[in-house]
Formats: sequence, C-alpha cells, structure tokens
Amino acid sequence: MSQKIQPLHPIEKRVLIAGYGEDKSWTIQHYEKNYKGYEAAKKAVSMPADDIIKTVKESGLRGLGGAGFPTGMKWSFIPKNPTKPVYLVCNADEGEPGTFKDRQIMEHCPHRLIEGMIAAAVAIGSKTGYIYVRGELRLAIKRLEDAINEAYAKNYLGQNIFGSGKAFDLTVHPGAGAYICGEETGLIESLEGDRGQPRLKPPFPAISGAFGGPTIVNNVATLAHVPGILLNGAEWFIKMGNGTNRGAGTTVWGVSGDVQKPGFFEVPVGTKLSTMLNEICGGPLPGRKFKACFPGGSSSPLLKAEEFDVPMDFDSLAAKGTMMGSCAIIVVDDSRSIPEICMRTARFYAHESCGQCVPCREGTKWTYKMLRRVCSGQGTKSDLKNVQSACDNMAGKTICVLSDACAMPVTSMLKKFPEEFEKLLIPESEFTPELPKVSGQLGSVLDAIRARQQS
Ligand SMILES: Cc1cc2nc3c(=O)[nH]c(=O)nc-3n(C[C@H](O)[C@H](O)[C@H](O)COP(=O)(O)O)c2cc1C
Repeated sequence: MSQKIQPLHPIEKRVLIAGYGEDKSWTIQHYEKNYKGYEAAKKAVSMPADDIIKTVKESGLRGLGGAGFPTGMKWSFIPKNPTKPVYLVCNADEGEPGTFKDRQIMEHCPHRLIEGMIAAAVAIGSKTGYIYVRGELRLAIKRLEDAINEAYAKNYLGQNIFGSGKAFDLTVHPGAGAYICGEETGLIESLEGDRGQPRLKPPFPAISGAFGGPTIVNNVATLAHVPGILLNGAEWFIKMGNGTNRGAGTTVWGVSGDVQKPGFFEVPVGTKLSTMLNEICGGPLPGRKFKACFPGGSSSPLLKAEEFDVPMDFDSLAAKGTMMGSCAIIVVDDSRSIPEICMRTARFYAHESCGQCVPCREGTKWTYKMLRRVCSGQGTKSDLKNVQSACDNMAGKTICVLSDACAMPVTSMLKKFPEEFEKLLIPESEFTPELPKVSGQLGSVLDAIRARQQS
C-alpha cells in the first residue's frame, strides 16, 4: 500500500524519512535499491571504531530525544576495554505529548534506523542492541520486527555481519505505556524487567547501564542520521543544517494543534519557526490568530506568537529560554485558555511522576490541584504564588528531569500570560477551602463547618 503524499514545500527535505510514501518503503529491497541501503553499515564494519566516532563528532550530530547531547561525544564515553558486555539501546518510547517523529521513521523507514544501529554498535563495540518501542505503536513494532528478520536473512545482523567476523544482535522490546520509561535509566530498568524508575546518576549508563554493562541510549532520529553521515561525510551534514556544527542536519518536526496543516515535516535544523507555521503548515485556522506554541513538546517553555521569528536550532531556541526538545510543535491559537492548558499540562506530569522523589511526586500533584482550583474560579493570588513556589522547588531537585519538565512550561505560562490567570482569581477574603469528605466524628465537625460556610 502506498501513501497519498502531498507535494513537498521547497524547504522540506527527505533524509530521515527518505522514501516516505513510496510503495513498500519499509522493505529491505526498497531501501537497498533506492537509498544506498546498508552501504554505510558495510563501510562501518571495516572502519576503525574511533574513525566512526570522529566522523560523527565532526558532523555535529546532537541527540534528538530531548537533551541535544552531542552524539559522538556520548559514544566516546564507553570504556575502551570494558569488562562487561556493551549494549546499544534505541529509545523509541516517544511518550512526550505532541511527539510523533520517531514513529514515522520506524513505520516507513525502519531499515535506516537498523543500519544506524549497526554502525553505532561497531563504533562502541556492542554486540547486543535493543529497540525499546512505545507499546501502543503496533505498526512500528511490526515493521521493525519484519525489517530485523530481513536484515538477519542477509547476514546484516547476527554473528558474522557482512562477513566481517563482527556480531550484532538486535531485538525489539515493546514498552508498557509509561512516560517515565522514556527517561534513559527508567527505560533501562524497564528493559531489565523491573519497574521503570530512573536511577541516580552517576554512574551514567555509558559506564554502568543495562545489566550493569556500559550502555549507550540514543533516540530513533539520532541513530537514523548515522548512515547518511557515514556515507556523505560530516561536511554534507553540517551544510544541510544551519551551516555550523551546532545546528547541523535535518530533523522531522511533528506539528499539532491550531494550524491549517498539521503533520510531520522534515526540514533543515535552523528553519524558522514562523516559516514552519505560516508557510509549511499554512498559518492559523480561518478567523484565528496564533497565540503561542510549545516548540519542543509539552515540556518545553512556551513561546508567544511575537517570538515565532526564531530559527529552530538548539542554541537559538535556548537563547529564547526554550528548547528543541523532542521536535514537537504544539500550536495554540487565540480561542484557547492558557490557564486551562497549564492545568492539563500539570495533570499529565502529576499522573506520570514515578513517585520516587518527593519534590516531583508532591510538587506535580499540588501544582495540578492549585491550577485546577484557579481554573474552576475558586483560586486566589496565593494559589498562583504557591504554584510558582512548587515549580521552583521541583526544577533541578530530583533524580530525573520529569519534575523540570512540568515546572518549565508551567512557569513560562505564568510568566508570559499573567493576565489570563489573574482574570480567574477571587479575593482571598472570598476563598472557602475545600474540606475533605470523611466519616466519623471528624466528618461531623467538617459537615458543621461546611454548613456554616454555606449559610
Ligand atoms: C521523563 C522523560 C521522558 C523521556 N522520554 C524520551 C523518549 O520518549 N524518547 C527519547 O528519545 N528520549 C526521551 N527522553 C530523553 C532520554 O532520557 C535520553 O536523553 C535520550 O533518549 C538520549 O538520546 P539522544 O542522545 O539521542 O537524544 C526522556 C527524558 C525524560 C526525563
């Protein structure tokens, strides 16, 4: 079945999703015939590992899973003479709200990811790899499993890959639906069969990760870029992006929310947000105006519409106080209430907190509860102050950054749209606390107070 595809905008590129929409783009035959499939992996098995790492370092490839960490540098942290097996793990959990870039790669171009993993495995000296896929992505799981079988049949995977004497086995591991299992050490715990709770770092996974062995965890898009870099060189990759090795290559952005043409679009890193939203995605819905957007998934601080004239690369977005994150633009127009969005965002993180760290477990929940009170017209100025204080006490104070992922967007919404929150507040004197419903003697006392409040 081929996909009905729209003509590409001149800015759009097809690198990570080369072949998208073409007949059976997910098969090994299609990939080898049309996209030099597995030539990079063949080249990699005969290259010294350090040369692969050097090329990836020079290309400026940075992680596309959220943190933007330089990929070649991460690989170079693997000990040179490890005493335990080294693991390569692809993070395909894709749980960040609004994010759907990895899914396109896995469903339409799974061989590009597998090839990237073979090259990465050679570079770090790994014989075992896992792709940890979000369990709901059934088609992606099927396409990956079929593609892995095709690669085994050709000896591109297995005990003697490309006749090189090197081994690399690859397994798909479906996840069980928790956002926290996307955090790399939570993922490793889950992969080992335990509850997905992030680990205290150090040691970082490159020293002690899966099953106690040195482990590299990389995002799908990060790994899928490796074949192109090895075949065409670091310079090619740099030129394709913003021309510097701090904003190289392309990425696929998922655009959702209030735009004429939501979808996923692969463009050079450094393409302006305004170009993406107005030219590629067709602008706001009829009769509406853009109000704001989350540029990098729901964890990224919000940008106001007047800030949209910004290149979408790591540094330019950081200079505006936000980030590329998971490359997911969620667009908000003037029909939406920011406090409502803020409350729903906090609700997501409160639900997904693993509960290990008190600032996160309590902070996300209280943030949600106080915002819910504000949105229901029962909140006061103190609630807003307390939300901010909860956020200040979450960010940077926990084992992983899930609490930061709640605090950052909430703080940005409070800061950038204070009037929308203030409009909903009541004076402190009119505030009536919500009393819990309990039975027994305490319950009768509370009932009496409730009755007095209402009279
Ligand atoms: C709560 C949480 C959820 C995350 N979810 C994902 C995810 O779904 N996919 C992903 O690639 N990275 C996710 N990350 C980031 C990973 O921890 C890690 O940084 C990333 O997989 C590294 O890959 P990269 O270097 O290629 O970006 C998440 C981080 C946190 C704190």
